[in-house]
Amino acid sequence: MSHQQQFIAQYQSLIEEFAQTQQVPFYAYDIDGLAAHICELVNDDIKLWFAVKANPLSSVIQTLAQQGMQFDVASSGELTQVLAQGVNPSHILNTGPAKSRAQIQHFLTNGVNIFVAESVNQLALINELAKENDVRVSVLLRVQLRFEQSSDNPLGGNELTPFGLGAAEWQAIELSDYGNIDVIGLHIFQWGNMLEAQQLISLWQAMISPLKALADTLGFELKVLDLGGGLGVPYDGDERTLSWPALKAALVAIKRTAGVEELWLELGRFAVAEFGYYVNRVVDIKHNYQQDLAVMQGGINHLLRPAITNQPFPVTLLRSSSAQQKPFHIHGPLCTSLDKLGTLALPSDLAVDDYLIFSQCGAYGFTESMPFFLCHELPAEVVISNGKVSVIRPALPASSYLY
Ligand SMILES: Cc1ncc(COP(=O)(O)O)c(C=O)c1O
Repeated sequence: MSHQQQFIAQYQSLIEEFAQTQQVPFYAYDIDGLAAHICELVNDDIKLWFAVKANPLSSVIQTLAQQGMQFDVASSGELTQVLAQGVNPSHILNTGPAKSRAQIQHFLTNGVNIFVAESVNQLALINELAKENDVRVSVLLRVQLRFEQSSDNPLGGNELTPFGLGAAEWQAIELSDYGNIDVIGLHIFQWGNMLEAQQLISLWQAMISPLKALADTLGFELKVLDLGGGLGVPYDGDERTLSWPALKAALVAIKRTAGVEELWLELGRFAVAEFGYYVNRVVDIKHNYQQDLAVMQGGINHLLRPAITNQPFPVTLLRSSSAQQKPFHIHGPLCTSLDKLGTLALPSDLAVDDYLIFSQCGAYGFTESMPFFLCHELPAEVVISNGKVSVIRPALPASSYLY
């Protein structure tokens, strides 16, 4: 039994009771499980940052901060949210391809001192604002490399993306032109949701020599190597395939080979995905053209990822059933056939008012979705800890966001 199945079995009646009073779909987080998982990840060899875009909920940020994780923040909104949880600005770095003057100034005003530069213009702007603010800032240059292995990866893989620049483009700059910046390292992240440890490790290994060569050409000491995220979680209901101790051992070896003082990772889904669930009510069931459909109260307005990646989240019927399973096309309430959460096996006695619980929803869930289309309610977000449900963000009606 996976730990998600154990969690669902343990809290089945509590979740069902809450769902009945709630009447609106909601996200539930296993915050104790999350804390234990992060405690296993944090270590003295590899510095771990949480990519806040994966889940900016206050309780998630607080739990990670308590376990010693730092924060990779990509917008002024994420920064405000992380600071509001009491995180020290020295534990925050700023990544992202669209850093406006106002955003960089907001970060500097709030004491953030580490930036990942994604273009030459960005580097110049960070330098200009650092000078105006009379501060020195630490910068990692984000590099895009091309490898033999091709892919249609969400982070772009070998494709041209707005994330960073090729080594040849960076080689053309003169670091002495950027007097208020200390370039401390390089950042690289091109492959998302990798499930094969050896593939991930080989990619990381292949990055070392071109990155070291770039640092040598530019004439700075490569103190920090930031390998971004990309550690995958299974969306097919299987157990996690990546073993953290094995990956960590490989990363320690990479750190040694690269000769860097610090090796950083910015974890998104590997940190939080497995500890979030989305609970959703069946509103209609129909049999049409010899196939079975379930129409749900919430769809891609609450959980968009299946429509963008064509990859459903694993689903379970909340109540127990011994009926044989059969495939159901699971649709949401929006007036578009894109509003589909997958075609997944469920007990054949699935009925109106049953609850489905989707797992692996702790990352890229609610805040990645399109909540306003058709003016439905926003889902609540709750934390389950010590046998108790606490509402962190209540479900809100459309009137809360319509003007
Ligand atoms: C700069 C950066 N770092 C880290 C991450 C986290 O990625 P993952 O969820 O694959 O760990 C992302 C995700 O898009 C990212 O853009």
